[in-house]
Amino acid sequence: MFWFAGLADGTCPQPVGTGTETASHAKKVDQLFGAIARRYDLVNDIQSLGLHRLWKRRVVALSEFREGELGLDLCCGTGDLAIGLAKRGGSLVGMDMNHPMLRQAAGRLAKRGRNQVSLAQADALNLPLGDGTVDLVTVGYGLRNLANLKAGLREITRVLKPGGRLLILDFGKPANRVIRSVYFLYLALMLPVFGWLCCGNASAYAYILKSLKKYTAQKGVAAVLRDMGYHSVQVIEIMAGTMSIHIAIKQEHHPQIHRGKTL
Ligand SMILES: C[S@@+](CC[C@H](N)C(=O)[O-])C[C@H]1O[C@@H](n2cnc3c(N)ncnc32)[C@H](O)[C@@H]1O
Repeated sequence: MFWFAGLADGTCPQPVGTGTETASHAKKVDQLFGAIARRYDLVNDIQSLGLHRLWKRRVVALSEFREGELGLDLCCGTGDLAIGLAKRGGSLVGMDMNHPMLRQAAGRLAKRGRNQVSLAQADALNLPLGDGTVDLVTVGYGLRNLANLKAGLREITRVLKPGGRLLILDFGKPANRVIRSVYFLYLALMLPVFGWLCCGNASAYAYILKSLKKYTAQKGVAAVLRDMGYHSVQVIEIMAGTMSIHIAIKQEHHPQIHRGKTL
């Protein structure tokens, strides 16, 4: 069954306990994804030569998601990870703040008969889930978009059960300077061209490099996860660190985290 826990006009509930800067960032990101939702999957295939499918399959395999578990695919977009995870048998909620992206996900899930997946419109900084309720959280290319990375990770930690798993897939920053320069050049020059050709929207794809430059990427995210008390934090670098997967386990006795508490 698919359900949308958003507002009737398709806008998302505002994050709680956060400032106007956060709200205006979320609004910009929401508008950006709304504008490219219909062609999002096509551009993903073109810009990564289809490789994003392999990276997402790897996340699904690493998740060890299984029957009897409840998973949350946060920033689910058009549902790639949710579709992959659903094949493994557990129940799943896909959450995203953007209505057009969720509509694409709903269409794809319906076509595949994945009826153990629910979809909900929600802000990652204010999840409509109780404390310690999910076994697994996956975030594919979502964390980088949040106005406040630490607040997003705290909210994820709040909803994870003790011992629950968190997997994050996102763009990375290669440690090798030459590779990083070539990679950033590719993101700066080619992605806006693909965005313009496929969606008539170059700026939405120029945003990837801008957001990546601000993002703390593989090393920074791993450090925050360790600081937050996760254990067995692993970083898997893909293609010389241009992409990365984080895996982290919430402690059995993680200190209690309260909803909406800002950092
Ligand atoms: C780059 S897409 C990734 C979609 C999908 N996970 C994938 O891997 O293809 C990022 C998604 O994050 C969502 N998003 C960004 N900020 C969000 C927030 N604060 N709360 C919920 N979703 C958010 C966007 O609407 C968008 O659908």
